[in-house]
Amino acid sequence: MHVVQFPLMNKEERLKKLQAELAQAQLPLMESNLVFGEGNIDCEVLFIGEAPGKTEDELKRPFVGRAGQLVNKLLTEIGWKREDVYITNIVKRRPPENRDPLPEEIEAYKPFLTKQIEIINPKIIATLGRFSMNYFLPFAKITRDQGKEFENNGRIIYPILHPAAALRGTTMMNQFRETFKKLPEVVARLKNKPQIDTSSKPEPIARKKEAQDKLF
Ligand code: URA
Repeated sequence: MHVVQFPLMNKEERLKKLQAELAQAQLPLMESNLVFGEGNIDCEVLFIGEAPGKTEDELKRPFVGRAGQLVNKLLTEIGWKREDVYITNIVKRRPPENRDPLPEEIEAYKPFLTKQIEIINPKIIATLGRFSMNYFLPFAKITRDQGKEFENNGRIIYPILHPAAALRGTTMMNQFRETFKKLPEVVARLKNKPQIDTSSKPEPIARKKEAQDKLF
């Protein structure tokens, strides 16, 4: 029997295919534009926010409004460029009036985020805000756990405040900056660890609290 061998798709092709599948899928929030994510697909750090806002919806790009400008500023302060990292959200379309994403919306987009993480395969996932932190670490508390390192399916989850929260006051801004500034050190420490098997699934873990939020 003659078997047709398709060449293996590279990361870029796999992400393009995923984006096309996502664009076709019937999911919640279809009245908004798809904001898939962007950046360096070979990044060490993948930033994950909550959901696109108004500007993101208009431009179909993540973190391009005021919160995004703050992320860009902090990236510059630590000597990185936005192009060095990949940025996306747990929910890929804007909820009306920027309301919080609903559990069923997060659940609906989960298979796509799971696949996106699997393809990019970063060592570190920096979560921006409580929603994306709790996606991976359901029992974590942002005020307590920002700037700590948690292991989750072979990756490090590094919770950071949401930049929109940081824009609300000096205390939060200081915390946001302090956590962000530790990122290069976290990366440097993990640099020599072997890359994990891309087949592992970064699902939120549902174990007992003590076992779950395992601090590094
Ligand atoms: N806030 C988010 O969580 N994501 C964006 O893309 C923009 C603002």
